[in-house]
Amino acid sequence: MKIEKTLQSRIVEMDFDHIVFGNQYSDHMFCSEFKNGEWKNSIIKPFGNIMFSPISLVFHYGQAVFEGMKAYKDKNEEVFLFRPKENFKRINRSANRLEMPIIPEDIFMNGLKKLIDIDRDWIPKNYGQSLYIRPFLIATNGVLSAKPSQDYMFMIVSTPADAYYKHPLKIKIEEKYSRSASGGVGFTKAAGNYASSFYPTRLANEEGFDQILWTDSSTHTMIEESGTMNVFFYLKNKLITPKANDNILSGITCKSILSLAEKEGFFVEERNLSVAEIIEGLKTGNLKEAFGCGTAAVINDFQTISYKGNDFCLPNLAEEKRISFYLKKKLLDIQHNLSDDPFGWRVKLKKNF
Ligand code: PLP
Ligand code: COI
Repeated sequence: MKIEKTLQSRIVEMDFDHIVFGNQYSDHMFCSEFKNGEWKNSIIKPFGNIMFSPISLVFHYGQAVFEGMKAYKDKNEEVFLFRPKENFKRINRSANRLEMPIIPEDIFMNGLKKLIDIDRDWIPKNYGQSLYIRPFLIATNGVLSAKPSQDYMFMIVSTPADAYYKHPLKIKIEEKYSRSASGGVGFTKAAGNYASSFYPTRLANEEGFDQILWTDSSTHTMIEESGTMNVFFYLKNKLITPKANDNILSGITCKSILSLAEKEGFFVEERNLSVAEIIEGLKTGNLKEAFGCGTAAVINDFQTISYKGNDFCLPNLAEEKRISFYLKKKLLDIQHNLSDDPFGWRVKLKKNF
């Protein structure tokens, strides 16, 4: 791998006291090209613009997939990745579904580790803060026919991150629009999944909601996920999350919470979950907590859930009484190397590896 370091770091311009997600990017980026059936020209170089033909397939047919992961620091400024192999496997599941080439493990992992090692000063030091890492794969062939590209570029960039949502969320159960459908690409991190959610999310924002709670596209009676988060409901003393299917992105945070909660002695269930059960739980008080979880969001409580124009409030429990708070601390403690790592999730990044 070629490495071209920047001559002038931009880190002096980075305000670590006021981190805004996605506002500033670390000094370097990783790129690797797929051409003539082979991966080549892996390079780490200064973060900067890239140039492709205006008829590159990514611009017209949306052949693009991405990942989201984070690097954390502990008190001694050692650096840890969290379950990076899961992101590696998931980007390739997404690539496969979008008829894109598989990224070899050494390209993904060496590019990732070397890049984050070089840019380790960009990882914020405080608890709950991290460096958000965005690997992505795009189709770069310049032909206008609607067919899979021959050439691709795999890249990794990163941005310092603090809490993605700053407050408990007001959620609307969606009954008209859908983010995914059975047999489609909902289970992937295809760029187009996000583009298609922007319009219904803007409409929901205009009605005063922070996010949409997506339901199944054919009946709108089954709960799927919310915004960029998987969802959990603490209903009748069980922590329930909708069972992942081809409409739902199988989240690494969600999987981790399931393992943690089970280990902590909570009753957990991954199963089909209906809107009717949630509404009944809200009416009877049997639904004590609801929250979303994801790499960017970590764990975020829902404050209200709205259905057919009625807003239902979740109980206003003190932080220390919330399962969401308890599990978030457990997760962050593992990520920041403040507790044991019973599941082997942390990957320590060696210096100058
Ligand atoms: N669902 C969607 C649509 C997402 O974009 C994300 C974020 O990545 C998640 C769920 C949570 O996945 P993870 O925990 O792997 O970040
Ligand atoms: C993530 O949590 O990694 C996401 O993908 C969220 C992102 C779209 C901001």
